[in-house]
Amino acid sequence: MSRFLRRSLGESFGYVPGEQPPDGEAWIKLNTNESPFPPSSLVSAAIGAAAVGLNRYPSPSAEPLRTALAAHHRVEIGQIAVGNGADALIDSCFRAFCEPGSTVALTDPTYSLLAVQARIHDVLTQKVTLGGTEVPAAFASADVPLRFIVNPNTPTGAWIDPAALETGLADATGVVVIDEAYCDFAPRSCVPLLRDHPSWLVLRTFSKSYALAGLRVGYAVGAPGLIDDLQAVGESYPVDRCAVAGAGAALADHAHHRGLVQEVIGERQRLTDTLADRGWQVTPSHANFICARPGTGSAASVAARLRARRVLVRCFGAGDAGMLRITVGTPAENDALLAALL
Ligand SMILES: Cc1ncc(COP(=O)(O)O)c(C=O)c1O
Repeated sequence: MSRFLRRSLGESFGYVPGEQPPDGEAWIKLNTNESPFPPSSLVSAAIGAAAVGLNRYPSPSAEPLRTALAAHHRVEIGQIAVGNGADALIDSCFRAFCEPGSTVALTDPTYSLLAVQARIHDVLTQKVTLGGTEVPAAFASADVPLRFIVNPNTPTGAWIDPAALETGLADATGVVVIDEAYCDFAPRSCVPLLRDHPSWLVLRTFSKSYALAGLRVGYAVGAPGLIDDLQAVGESYPVDRCAVAGAGAALADHAHHRGLVQEVIGERQRLTDTLADRGWQVTPSHANFICARPGTGSAASVAARLRARRVLVRCFGAGDAGMLRITVGTPAENDALLAALL
């Protein structure tokens, strides 16, 4: 850090992403909730064709992807904003809806980037413990202009049924953002509820169930006014031509998407059952990862032992409270993980 960094950001400021070792070094990477499977084979051809037009700026609203997403979710085109990953849309939510010095409501635990974004925007955080399958009353009643709930949540994988979210958030004021980055691995989405909730925004991403973390495409769905707000504060050309084309091709390949999601859900169950049989405490997950506490040894020591065997997982919390978040890998990767844990 330099001496010029804004002092209000504090010491050692910044989001700490999961370790990204260089490609081709044969690590088993189960630490950042990427897809272990490749994207649709239609994606690279679409990107190649789009590259021919790189002398021109892309569509500012990411057309034709925006129209395809509207059709996919059965909403109006004006209800979709596409961004450079869901992360960019999270940033836009802070820019659009929070004055400096205001407060955002977050759950605990939640996606760790949210608190970092709050600091960047000089926004305070009010954190409410999330457990079980209902929205905590203190989260819904917080007097804030913006609140985020991640569903399924990270790092736990716990999921709240949209009907329970609707009940729990009935009296919430301000803008409610439901981050559904992992929703395709869960039973249902909140998107159909948006017509009754004009102050809700749902965030989605191509990084997980469409296997395109490297392309950086996410989007928001919500009422046209909120979408206009996000676009007003966002970048002028938020998504490049290759990303627009690649995400569009992935969205069109329903069979590939369905197959990938089913395979991940099947492997998630296998990992859950096997670790539970070995005495681990595993939280039931509705995402593409599991969250578990080893039967013996601390989570941190198990993560270190796995790393020595070139298997990367993520450790959250310390000591007895520590848990491992393990991304579901390919069957072979999961076999290797289970063998390394013996
Ligand atoms: C809850 C949540 N939201 C958003 C993201 C980031 O999505 P994107 O890759 O589209 O920026 C992640 C990434 O891990 C996440 O866990």
